[in-house]
Amino acid sequence: MAEYAFFDHHPPQTDILDEVLDGLRGEQKTLSPKFFYDEDGSRLFEAITRLPEYYLTRTELSIFDAHDADMRVRLDHRECIIEYGSGSNLKIRRLLEIAQPRAYVPVDISKEHLAENARELHEAYPQISVYPVCADFTQPIPLPPQVRGMEKTAFFPGSSIGNFEPPAAVEFLRNVAQTVGPGGQLLIGVDCAKSADVLEPAYDDAAGVTAEFNRNMLVHLNERLKADFDVDAYTHQAVYNVEAARIEMYLVARSEQRVRIGGEVIRIAAGERIHTEHSYKYAPDAFVALAEQAGFSCADVWQDERSWFAIYLLEA
Ligand code: AVJ
Repeated sequence: MAEYAFFDHHPPQTDILDEVLDGLRGEQKTLSPKFFYDEDGSRLFEAITRLPEYYLTRTELSIFDAHDADMRVRLDHRECIIEYGSGSNLKIRRLLEIAQPRAYVPVDISKEHLAENARELHEAYPQISVYPVCADFTQPIPLPPQVRGMEKTAFFPGSSIGNFEPPAAVEFLRNVAQTVGPGGQLLIGVDCAKSADVLEPAYDDAAGVTAEFNRNMLVHLNERLKADFDVDAYTHQAVYNVEAARIEMYLVARSEQRVRIGGEVIRIAAGERIHTEHSYKYAPDAFVALAEQAGFSCADVWQDERSWFAIYLLEA
């Protein structure tokens, strides 16, 4: 019989005030992309995934469509699927249908979001046991005892790996390799390095949704920290750094700013940029090399016709 059980590892609430101030005191002011995702931020990201310029989400889904039969052969009847960051319902549904596992373990730091998604999938797939784990997945995760000994396939879609600096990406992948164990798999979606002419509009759309998403970080910090960022005083910037193979996003102050946060006043010069996100892009050979550093070997890679996005099946 399939069951449902919630495992709360109480991920520590880090002191975001210290982290924010640290980032704003440096030579290059910087704020972590994790501050994008309050309720409005998550809604804006959803809107981004539907933009004509943001090809990532629809291209990743198209790869599932085009390579469905092949993926079934490779993933058929894996016993346990572990999803890192329970997010897009559409993608995990595709994978659960392909793999038909006995157990599904979504891992997320946000308890409410995790419980809601897990319940929904439990209802949609009554034959699959669902064991949500509330934990910080950048650390090794303790798995529910129910899945001990099962063949495991981890899932990390959406090119979320792109937000990690490469050394942190290797460390994350090492943790995943340890979690799935020898013979375990990782199915991971990664955006490919490509022309700035395609990448920059994907992160600076004509309708201005990404600009709003970027500025919403300041709205969020104003609420969370009782800060007083003048949100409209910043413009959105997205540039592709070819050497580093990453999109860099910034908020650029139009005029000199003084921001009060937690009793401190931060001065931002006119034209100064606050860095908000790196989104790394990987040519397939570069990504496979990164995965190998973490102890994975590449069993398969599936791409769309234009080779804009790739889904890798890695083996620990
Ligand atoms: C959620 C990190 C995959 O980098 O494409 C979208 C976030 N930022 N538009 C990405 C994002 C601006 C997205 N990831």
